[in-house]
Amino acid sequence: MGSPTFQKTKPVSSVDRLQVYRVWGVTIAVITVVVFSSIFITSDLSPLGIINGTSPQEQIDLIAKQQVSESIAPRNDAVVQAFVAELQQATAHATGKDSEGNWFQQSQWNRDYPCLSRTELPQKYSRRNYVRDLAPNPQWRAVLREYAKLHRTCMRKVGNVTAYFMSRNTSLDCQFTVVDTDEIGIGNRFLVIASAVLYSILTKRVVLLAGDEDFIPEGLLCEPFEGSSWRGFDVNRIVTPYRGGENPFWNNSGSFHSRIDEAVKDGKPFDDYAVANIDAQSWVGQPHSRFYCDVEQENYKNVTFMYLTGMLYFLPKLFTVPSFRPVLEALFPDRMALTSILREVMLPADEVWTRVQRMEQTYLEDRVDRRLGVQLRYRGGWGEYNGKFHTIAGRVLQCALDNNILPPMVKNTERGNNEPALAMRMITVFVASLYEGVKNNLTETFLRHPTATGDAVKVVQLSSEGDQKFGKLVYQGALAEVLTLSFSDHLFVTPKSTFSGLAQAYGGVVPWFIDWRDNITESGPCTRAQTVDVCFQAPFDYNIKCPYDHERHDKNISEVYPDVQPCLAVDTGGLQLITKNDMSMELLR
Ligand SMILES: *[C@@H]1O[C@H](CO)[C@@H](O)[C@H](O)[C@H]1NC(C)=O
Ligand SMILES: *[C@@H]1O[C@H](CO)[C@@H](O)[C@H](O)[C@H]1NC(C)=O
Ligand SMILES: *[C@@H]1O[C@H](CO)[C@@H](O)[C@H](O)[C@H]1NC(C)=O
Ligand SMILES: *[C@@H]1O[C@H](CO)[C@@H](O)[C@H](O)[C@H]1NC(C)=O
Ligand SMILES: *[C@@H]1O[C@H](CO)[C@@H](O)[C@H](O)[C@H]1NC(C)=O
Ligand SMILES: *[C@@H]1O[C@H](CO)[C@@H](O)[C@H](O)[C@H]1NC(C)=O
Ligand SMILES: *[C@@H]1O[C@H](CO)[C@@H](O)[C@H](O)[C@H]1NC(C)=O
Ligand SMILES: *[C@@H]1O[C@H](CO)[C@@H](O)[C@H](O)[C@H]1NC(C)=O
Repeated sequence: MGSPTFQKTKPVSSVDRLQVYRVWGVTIAVITVVVFSSIFITSDLSPLGIINGTSPQEQIDLIAKQQVSESIAPRNDAVVQAFVAELQQATAHATGKDSEGNWFQQSQWNRDYPCLSRTELPQKYSRRNYVRDLAPNPQWRAVLREYAKLHRTCMRKVGNVTAYFMSRNTSLDCQFTVVDTDEIGIGNRFLVIASAVLYSILTKRVVLLAGDEDFIPEGLLCEPFEGSSWRGFDVNRIVTPYRGGENPFWNNSGSFHSRIDEAVKDGKPFDDYAVANIDAQSWVGQPHSRFYCDVEQENYKNVTFMYLTGMLYFLPKLFTVPSFRPVLEALFPDRMALTSILREVMLPADEVWTRVQRMEQTYLEDRVDRRLGVQLRYRGGWGEYNGKFHTIAGRVLQCALDNNILPPMVKNTERGNNEPALAMRMITVFVASLYEGVKNNLTETFLRHPTATGDAVKVVQLSSEGDQKFGKLVYQGALAEVLTLSFSDHLFVTPKSTFSGLAQAYGGVVPWFIDWRDNITESGPCTRAQTVDVCFQAPFDYNIKCPYDHERHDKNISEVYPDVQPCLAVDTGGLQLITKNDMSMELLR
């Protein structure tokens, strides 16, 4: 009586249940679109025929039921459990009769691949006085645990994965994603990897890094998946990078999508072993827009190796794939997907972590009550810096004073009248920049003018290399600075900077953009970001491009999915996820 129709059918396994949720998700989306279009285009009711055998009244009843069943937590639990069951099934297929008890010793593996930050990083975030930290997410942990099992099972079975790939072997029930990037800085590199990791988990693919030291040097990140390595695909760079064109190893996604079109037209079967998702025509490397469609993803399920490369963060658009959404919504009700991936999967290796600890203990941790992190990036190098740093210094100070992040200062003339005897609190400003001008300006400013509250303001900058450099030591130093910034209570960032973006995402902090435009208007010296998420810069499309998804095709992404919005004008063009953050701790000053 009154139970949803899908429960009347025969008992379903968890995996089947996830299918049901997916169908429901799609159905609800379709219904919503249909209902809205029938409101706005009352003359055209033909779309109502899409949900076969359901009358409009029944559809409205379905919506009502869906709203009632939106008692979020239990539904999320069920969706995650069903997804975990899918991961277990994939692992069981890969395992065959082999029990991992015979070859995997967890404690030994953890001794061989130590990762101090795994246990020590969380307390750096929880001790902040003005940021409510991310709530623990046991569901995400559970998914990662199961995914790690799949990863190590496939990697143990496959042996030399490059040789497996080159011989077009399909004997294992395992699929792979290979992630790679162009020659780009650490910010973009990490963001491409984070996007590929989430895609791989959602599609139950083993994620691997391409190449060797050139991409992610050893000693930068910990091995993320217990019992196996994500390194080691094509260390000699025989089959990567793929740059489009004819190649016996990879087909490109453009030709793959054409084969889907032919199959839809005349049922031509096709069987691609390996597809590279890159638009070779474009400098803004990212997957093609049709990558984010259900029909295309259904076809990608038969592709053994996927190659994801480019230079842009693309995670926000994964939230526009209808079949991915139920799991994503259940795992990340607050949309803090990037932070969750960085803090669990992309942990700094011990070499970096000990550097971070030393920086903290020596320069930053002393009695600090409040920490402001400032990251300044002058894309135009010395020329831009010389022309601009006075203006930027003024804006940084003004932004901090306007928002009560730094205390007001006493004017020179009032000096001596009420010079406070003791510093009330210690406020530290940590500046990360290739240049020192702003740090010098702030230091000098607070030496000349005591604060009205008696608080002490200390300004710290630990490196100033002038020019952007590459290489292992530089990456280690850069990651250490990213993390040090991420421990801040407040962050001032440079528009369009992915280095800044990584810091805000590790930290789970909604930053302020220091306005970089020459003439600023009412917006003032800085603008608060709308989210913790980083901007997916220059996506190919702001509309959905799914030719076989007639309901959604060509619709504005942000209107169909309000949690994916255009980035702010002060930042740069693009799309980003809108996270839900509790900022109440900022107000208790
Ligand atoms: C709905 O019915 C039409 C016409 O009978 C058919 O072509 C279509 O495949 C059906 N769709 C579904 C989802 O069953
Ligand atoms: C395919 O890979 C499996 C697992 O590595 C291996 O045992 C098998 O010999 C390979 N087959 C061929 C034809 O290379
Ligand atoms: C794995 O196979 C590839 C391709 O055959 C080869 O170049 C590479 O040296 C092999 N790696 C190891 C560790 O044997
Ligand atoms: C590329 O596509 C062709 C069909 O056009 C197919 O025969 C070939 O196996 C594919 N190559 C790979 C590496 O998947
Ligand atoms: C994938 O491959 C299986 C078996 O080869 C086939 O039955 C299925 O139709 C294929 N799926 C797609 C979407 O091509
Ligand atoms: C810091 O920069 C501001 C803005 O350019 C300027 O007005 C001020 O004089 C500078 N202060 C010092 C101590 O250099
Ligand atoms: C802002 O500066 C640009 C040139 O940099 C100028 O063309 C424009 O008129 C200015 N706008 C305002 C409102 O002053
Ligand atoms: C899409 O919708 C969003 C949110 O309503 C809006 O801000 C944006 O300008 C729209 N984009 C386009 C290309 O129409």
